[in-house]
Amino acid sequence: MNKKVVRYAILWFSVMAIIVLGFTAYVYMSVKDFLDETTSTVVLIVGVVVILALGIAIAGVTAFIIAMNKDKEGDEKQMANVIYGSEVAKELKDQMKQEIEVIQASHKRVPTLCVILVGNNPASVSYVTGKERACAEIGLGSKMIHLDENTSEEKLIELVEECNHDESIDGILVQLPLPNHINEKNVLLRIDPDKDVDGLHPINVGRLHLGEDGFVPCTPQGIMELLKRMHVQINGKRAVVIGRSNLVGNPVARLLMNENATVTICHSKTENIEAICKQADILVVAIGKAKYVTKDFVKEGAFVIDVGVNRNEEGKLVGDVDFDNVIEHVSAITPVPKGVGPMTITMLLKNTIKAYNNKESI
Ligand code: GUN
Repeated sequence: MNKKVVRYAILWFSVMAIIVLGFTAYVYMSVKDFLDETTSTVVLIVGVVVILALGIAIAGVTAFIIAMNKDKEGDEKQMANVIYGSEVAKELKDQMKQEIEVIQASHKRVPTLCVILVGNNPASVSYVTGKERACAEIGLGSKMIHLDENTSEEKLIELVEECNHDESIDGILVQLPLPNHINEKNVLLRIDPDKDVDGLHPINVGRLHLGEDGFVPCTPQGIMELLKRMHVQINGKRAVVIGRSNLVGNPVARLLMNENATVTICHSKTENIEAICKQADILVVAIGKAKYVTKDFVKEGAFVIDVGVNRNEEGKLVGDVDFDNVIEHVSAITPVPKGVGPMTITMLLKNTIKAYNNKESI
């Protein structure tokens, strides 16, 4: 802002100086014939100094006000194309809270989520805590089960089966990644597909790919919700997804295709990745590399969804997209943090209520 203020001050000072000097010269010329030589010189000097000082003051204040307004406009423009998932998530959570209040008022059982965490992976512990907090926020029941790092695959599967049969539990989520000695697929396969609020059971994956109703993984579902809120036209548009994981890349590509986008999935082996991404009207980035996507990847006016959560050298959270580098070139972008992340947990809550409603309506 300082540079702008200085620029405006100089410009305004020049304009005011010319006006003031012109005016002073005019007044002086008009009165000089009525004054003796000394008086007229004094009047000339005092007049110039006073009016010039006044001019500088007016120029400075005006320049400052203009610069402040320009900055505000700039900030508003920048804010307008940053899509805060945290705000959308809050809105959705308020709606769900009301839904649960209605259930509570009718003295019925509240929807309940069970989260199973094996071991102490710090990121997983933090995610699970976030899920527990979100459940409490909206009045959703939650059951957190924390197992020892050395828990066997058999023991974990036994617990999953127990949860499958527990009538008080509507949704089950086994936090990933699991310790290396446990086969993830074996565990996910044992979750009752009707309680699979994570959408990772092969039956739900199949439903998604067949375009049938089922549970959709939370992050991709959150991304689609954000695109909807951004009023992004998906039908007929070119979408590029960077990343092919079962949690994000694959399902979001499928969801975009189900909405009639023409979808390309890029990954670590893709050649000419920049050129491919540059064709995207919608670019979803889930590659797990800090600030990987720069303006060279981005088509002018594209919608960019940043799924990455990385820590930079200073320990600060940054996305997979170099936000400051691309912001001027995009129609809209999600920030990190406060972008996609809050939507993921919100969709988990939504899926749990859906599982509850499915069960209660039988
Ligand atoms: N770990 C990181 N994200 C997720 C998620 O969405 N589901 C599960 N189960 N584990 C995760």
